[in-house]
Amino acid sequence: MKNIYLIGMMGSGKTSTARELGVLLQMPILDLDAELERQTGRSIAEIFREKGEPWFRETETSVLIEGKAAEGTVIATGGGIILARQNRDWMRAHGEVIFLETSLENLWQRVSLEKGRPLIEGKNPKENLMTIAKARLPLYEECAHFKIETDGKTPREVARLIQEQLKLRSAS
Ligand code: S3P
Repeated sequence: MKNIYLIGMMGSGKTSTARELGVLLQMPILDLDAELERQTGRSIAEIFREKGEPWFRETETSVLIEGKAAEGTVIATGGGIILARQNRDWMRAHGEVIFLETSLENLWQRVSLEKGRPLIEGKNPKENLMTIAKARLPLYEECAHFKIETDGKTPREVARLIQEQLKLRSAS
């Protein structure tokens, strides 16, 4: 069975949706950020601070490609996974790629409650988030086989919609 890759901005609910989807589809889950933290023994924030973003991106690609994800895993990616063409090609070739699309307002509401988001820290985190989200939108769209809008939905509801779409796609 193929993998399922959840892509989307930070705060779009990839990790919690992956958990729900894993339960619904009875598939194991892998969270790439958590796996990267496990492998390096550092938090994402520490990695950005101590090693810098280019190192993080290289390591993120290795975890995606060499990672322990056997076939048939639900994989929650980091928001920037789509930046590298290599990652986009890899995901499309190895599974179904699903874009969790969330409005900018909702992204901000979720992300502003949490710490440890190195990319949006600084003078104007809200503006940083909006700029990143807009710049990435075409890449999420290009990479995904389909997308699910998440506004006003729980992770369980999003997971159910994904399950339905996957059924339709496998039937056609
Ligand atoms: C990033 C998103 C984060 C994490 C890192 C970079 C990004 O993951 O990988 O801070 O570039 O958008 P989440 O999307 O799980 O927050």
